[in-house]
Amino acid sequence: MVSLDFPLRSLILLLLSPQLFSSLDTINPNQVFRDGDILISKNKTFAFGFFSPGSSLRRYVGIWYNKIPEKTFVWVANRDNPINNSSEALLINQSGNLVLYDESRKVEIWSTNASSNNSNIAQLLDSGNLVLMGQISQVVAWQSFDFPTDNFLPNMRIGLDLKTGLNRFITSWRSSDDPGTGKSVYRLDLSGPPQFVIYRGSTLVLRTMPWPWVWPSADDSSGMYKATFDNNKNEISQWFVMGDPSIKMRFQVDEMGSLKWLAWDDQSRQWKMFWSTLMDPCQHYGHCGSYARCTPGSRNAFECTCLTGYEPKSPRNWYLRNGSDGCVRKRNSSMCRKGERFVKESQVKLPDTLVAQAMMGLNSEQCEQKCMRNCSCSAYSAVYTSERGNVCLLWFGELMDIVTYTDWGLDLHVRVDSSVLEKNDDFFAKKGKLVIPLLSVGMVSVLVVAILCIQLFKRRKQKVHRDPRQHKRVSIILAALRCPKGISTTYDLQQGNSHVDLPVYDLRTIMEATNNFSSTNKLGQGGFGSVYKGQLPNGQEIAVKRLSKDSGQGPMQFTNEMMLIVRLQHKNLVKLLGCCIHKEEKMLVYEYLPNKSLDTFLFDQSRKLELDWRRRFEIIVGIARGMMYLHQDSRLKIIHRDLKASNVLLDATLNPKISDFGLAKIFDGEQSHGNTRRVVGTYGYMSPEYAIFGKFSTKSDVFSFGVLLLEIISGKRNNVDYLEDPSLNLIGHVWDLWKEEKALEIVEPSLEESLPSNEVLRCIHIGLLCVQEKAIDRPTISDVVFMLGSNTSLPPPKQPAFFLRTPSNVDRWIVGAKQCSVDEVSITLVRAR
Ligand SMILES: *[C@@H]1O[C@H](CO)[C@@H](O)[C@H](O)[C@H]1NC(C)=O
Ligand SMILES: *[C@@H]1O[C@H](CO)[C@@H](O)[C@H](O)[C@H]1NC(C)=O
Ligand SMILES: *[C@@H]1O[C@H](CO)[C@@H](O)[C@H](O)[C@H]1NC(C)=O
Ligand SMILES: *[C@@H]1O[C@H](CO)[C@@H](O)[C@H](O)[C@H]1NC(C)=O
Ligand SMILES: *[C@@H]1O[C@H](CO)[C@@H](O)[C@H](O)[C@H]1NC(C)=O
Ligand SMILES: *[C@@H]1O[C@H](CO)[C@@H](O)[C@H](O)[C@H]1NC(C)=O
Ligand SMILES: *[C@@H]1O[C@H](CO)[C@@H](O)[C@H](O)[C@H]1NC(C)=O
Ligand SMILES: *[C@@H]1O[C@H](CO)[C@@H](O)[C@H](O)[C@H]1NC(C)=O
Ligand SMILES: *[C@@H]1O[C@H](CO)[C@@H](O)[C@H](O)[C@H]1NC(C)=O
Repeated sequence: MVSLDFPLRSLILLLLSPQLFSSLDTINPNQVFRDGDILISKNKTFAFGFFSPGSSLRRYVGIWYNKIPEKTFVWVANRDNPINNSSEALLINQSGNLVLYDESRKVEIWSTNASSNNSNIAQLLDSGNLVLMGQISQVVAWQSFDFPTDNFLPNMRIGLDLKTGLNRFITSWRSSDDPGTGKSVYRLDLSGPPQFVIYRGSTLVLRTMPWPWVWPSADDSSGMYKATFDNNKNEISQWFVMGDPSIKMRFQVDEMGSLKWLAWDDQSRQWKMFWSTLMDPCQHYGHCGSYARCTPGSRNAFECTCLTGYEPKSPRNWYLRNGSDGCVRKRNSSMCRKGERFVKESQVKLPDTLVAQAMMGLNSEQCEQKCMRNCSCSAYSAVYTSERGNVCLLWFGELMDIVTYTDWGLDLHVRVDSSVLEKNDDFFAKKGKLVIPLLSVGMVSVLVVAILCIQLFKRRKQKVHRDPRQHKRVSIILAALRCPKGISTTYDLQQGNSHVDLPVYDLRTIMEATNNFSSTNKLGQGGFGSVYKGQLPNGQEIAVKRLSKDSGQGPMQFTNEMMLIVRLQHKNLVKLLGCCIHKEEKMLVYEYLPNKSLDTFLFDQSRKLELDWRRRFEIIVGIARGMMYLHQDSRLKIIHRDLKASNVLLDATLNPKISDFGLAKIFDGEQSHGNTRRVVGTYGYMSPEYAIFGKFSTKSDVFSFGVLLLEIISGKRNNVDYLEDPSLNLIGHVWDLWKEEKALEIVEPSLEESLPSNEVLRCIHIGLLCVQEKAIDRPTISDVVFMLGSNTSLPPPKQPAFFLRTPSNVDRWIVGAKQCSVDEVSITLVRAR
């Protein structure tokens, strides 16, 4: 039965209507449907009838969600011809059309325009579609889904029906009170390969991913939502379905030209906004102009970046974060010169297809060649589709409106001049584009072991040809350092022009101070020996680093460390008090720091509680300052090469002090990086270029700093805490969360509730920048100090290096290395306690 507003009216209807509605959801021929009558679909999902939107007094005929209290109209029949007086009725006329009829004035207000001649019925389906179909034949003569209003519903198609020529599009309401045809239209754009666009008036405000992909997501792995962009002989259209039809989902275009993705939330009883173009500046057409990509969610950073080989057209506007002018080709670069290449911009919304062409049947190599051969081809993208096979999209001209997607998107290959490529080439590019994350874990380990063994082999051979003068110099220095009798004798050491005072302790003093190196005095064990607590006769507490005989730290290295540290004075560096050498025995005497090393706090269930966020932040800043001093502020440029939590000591006030410079190298003047055949360091903290090629630089220290920073924030060790899930290490985990904008989840759970989330996120951001795979992408440590102390925008991090994922492989690697030679390779594996 039709539900009626007034009993009286229903009585009149009963008397007047020649035939009653046969069911709740259908209007039959010869029935009259009046204001107050309602059709309800079978499952009671949708309702159809007369209504007045908002504060309007005018009457409209349309469809709304039946059970949703907040009346939501998904379709309006007479949107541009409202009813001013309620003397109208809907009926199916002789030729089978549904007609809204003004009875008093005998005029049609609205009608369907089906060309059928059948005796049709009008039925409201559970999809929200009102269909006019043959009573017997069931042939659909007309349906409301073909003439949408402002809502895009599941199972509705938007775009071109190639058989009937019908072009279906969505148009906004004028206002919430007026469903009249508004200014903003979401429709298929066929000026190039198919894409959907929103025009607000004559302004293009939004563009979707072009075919062969759909927007906003190709497939939802939950199976709840599936969207498709068809381009075949019947259709060029877009549609979506819900795996669970009880979920009410819709897209809506509003008058401002924004698109909203909404789902009904039964709990809060309101429409939940899944996503809206309003929330995402990158979705505004041309937000970053041409030849730039827009990366949403870059937080403090400017979301626009020029494509490789391009630079801001207006550097001033760009600096002021107005990207609309876009980018231009770098000066002195050009198209179509020898040696140009394509640079991949991955996971993007492909540029505006206005200047593109689609070619079928070309695979990615053929597509690349096609683009390369034509000088006006600026980019290509090759896609394989199950429906149409290989599709090659070629752009001839401006690359406009490129957006970075985090979870989907296609790869765009942009033509870049060789002059630009040369400048951008870094170590890895020159080595033949070795991209570590692409290699499997096993391969990396095998590669590393192989390279190490080759290096060791070469090194052994070279031993024979070593410069004898070097030996001589070492022994001269050692002779000068030999421990005298007595306590704290000061020796003068002459090295170059520098004058150094180095206190030297005799062995007996040290033995007594440390209780004969008793195990109760032992503070810790490092890769190169043990550290003992001691007390000098004058009461001063000391820490003695006793180098193990098989440590691999020879006299040269030892001297090196001592000479360096004694020169360095910084509040974030451990102070060296003196040394002791006795026959094989080599020792360093440091100031004693009662709080031991940072790792004993970070990874200890109770001590970690002493490190609140403020403290952790200060420790991060302190370590960065200490490293900056080593890298550039001290007279010598020092690369630490083994920065890690256990090499950062904390003093009584938890002020961090970097220790263990045994691996540091002295550099004079300009030299800022080097190559070593000896790879020393700690697994988990080593940058890829250092671990694999022995190439170290201040940037490899920055990498270690980044790992340490992330460990301080998360309270997790980079590798050891991920033994359960070897596919992930801390860096990988942080990166995954970062991409999902959930980076704060990495924060040590014991930290207080009300964290300054901006500051924490900024720190995580800096950490990710430090562990970038390519050294060139990492900041310098002074950049880091600056970033930590300011609020300037940070560049978005790229995917960091997930280097050496499984500790089990590294175990093998270390064993293998030891078999080659113990004293040549020294790698410390930090183990969980
Ligand atoms: C109702 O009034 C508006 C203007 O007042 C007019 O545009 C519209 O055509 C009228 N509707 C009908 C059905 O007469
Ligand atoms: C509505 O109908 C009444 C008479 O039936 C008429 O006086 C009035 O002008 C009409 N209003 C509109 C907006 O058409
Ligand atoms: C039925 O309505 C349609 C649409 O208004 C109209 O073209 C057609 O002439 C009408 N048929 C009859 C028999 O009234
Ligand atoms: C029906 O009307 C729509 C506009 O309301 C028009 O686009 C379409 O071509 C018409 N169809 C027929 C069969 O006349
Ligand atoms: C509808 O039927 C009438 C007569 O029954 C016929 O004259 C007319 O051509 C038919 N129109 C269509 C579109 O079939
Ligand atoms: C409608 O009801 C049928 C069973 O009667 C069910 O299979 C279907 O999923 C329901 N559809 C919706 C949209 O609730
Ligand atoms: C950005 O700059 C362009 C011209 O370069 C200007 O037209 C536009 O209004 C600016 N946008 C904003 C938001 O300032
Ligand atoms: C461009 O080339 C000219 C000469 O060919 C040179 O002087 C200039 O420095 C170059 N500019 C850049 C940015 O490379
Ligand atoms: C390059 O492609 C454009 C666009 O298809 C075409 O107009 C032009 O003739 C082509 N040029 C050459 C040299 O093939």
